[in-house]
Amino acid sequence: MSQSSVSAIRWANNQLILLDQRKLPLQEAYVHCVTHVEVADAIRQMVVRGAPAIGIAAAYGVALAAAEFSSDRDRMHRALETLADSRPTAVNLFWALRRMRDLIDASSAADLFPLLVEEATRIHEEDLQANLTMGELGADLIAESGRGALLTHCNTGSLATGGYGTALGVIRSAYRRDLVTEVFADETRPWLQGARLTAWELCQDDIPVKLIADSAAAHVMKTCAVKWVIVGADRITAHGDVANKIGTYGLAVLARHHGVKFMVAAPSSTIDFELFSGADIPIEERTSDELKFVQGTPLAPEKANAFNPVFDVTPAELIDAIVTERGVVLRPNAEKMRKLQ
Ligand code: MRU
Repeated sequence: MSQSSVSAIRWANNQLILLDQRKLPLQEAYVHCVTHVEVADAIRQMVVRGAPAIGIAAAYGVALAAAEFSSDRDRMHRALETLADSRPTAVNLFWALRRMRDLIDASSAADLFPLLVEEATRIHEEDLQANLTMGELGADLIAESGRGALLTHCNTGSLATGGYGTALGVIRSAYRRDLVTEVFADETRPWLQGARLTAWELCQDDIPVKLIADSAAAHVMKTCAVKWVIVGADRITAHGDVANKIGTYGLAVLARHHGVKFMVAAPSSTIDFELFSGADIPIEERTSDELKFVQGTPLAPEKANAFNPVFDVTPAELIDAIVTERGVVLRPNAEKMRKLQ
């Protein structure tokens, strides 16, 4: 289904098969989920991650619940809640679950399983199509400012989506059009999605990538002719504020200071028109151990406290373009965002 060699999410033999992203790039291992609780755990534990990908996985999780509970509506509603409890920030999760719930509530079928598998597959395929469209729209913007270097954060590629990627999809499309000299990938502490996943995807596609420490971004913007910072999103408000991986906000501030353009690429399923201000977006905090240890090795004194918010909010004012499959919004504000509704 995906437009690159990586298939992070697969439905086969009535199972959800997830590439275990915690183990990349050292190991390509798969987790087979046969219950909705296994899917919720896989999302919580980052086996599958990235806003669109967790929405897709959760949708298949709802289908699994129909098989587990013989389509019993009450138990299915509880399964929806369990899946919704897995992670709080990416709105794609709640968007996908709402689509599945609406189908459950509208259908009188005794067996919901085939309908729900079909709907989850549709969500999966639509996401891939949206990414291909965004890739071209984003590359058009890059073409206007000319060939140059790009900088990206976290992982927004095939692994994080239904295929191809959001920000990484734009990078892929721009590279195919010979608009990219090189890609700087932030390592993205503490989960190292940039080092482990983005560098892996770009190497597989033979797109020239240079991994940088997160703290090198200012220096790189100043000295390496970066034309665009391109990132994905976990939730975009009606005003155009953007929640994304921790560190994104800092990049936007740096980009504005250095005259580098800042692009957010995300499908319309990432827009939460019910929230106006980014201040209202729930920001996930994960355990301090994720900061204090790397793959079991301690990095800090045992007694040290740590604060580990894993997303931040970039205000609309710092964003030059929001690219969705419904179109591009330049210099977003509430009025311009409405055209995407
Ligand atoms: O914690 P993660 O790895 O799920 O965070 C992922 C991100 O922040 C991505 O940038 C975002 O989901 C967009 S992915 C297309």
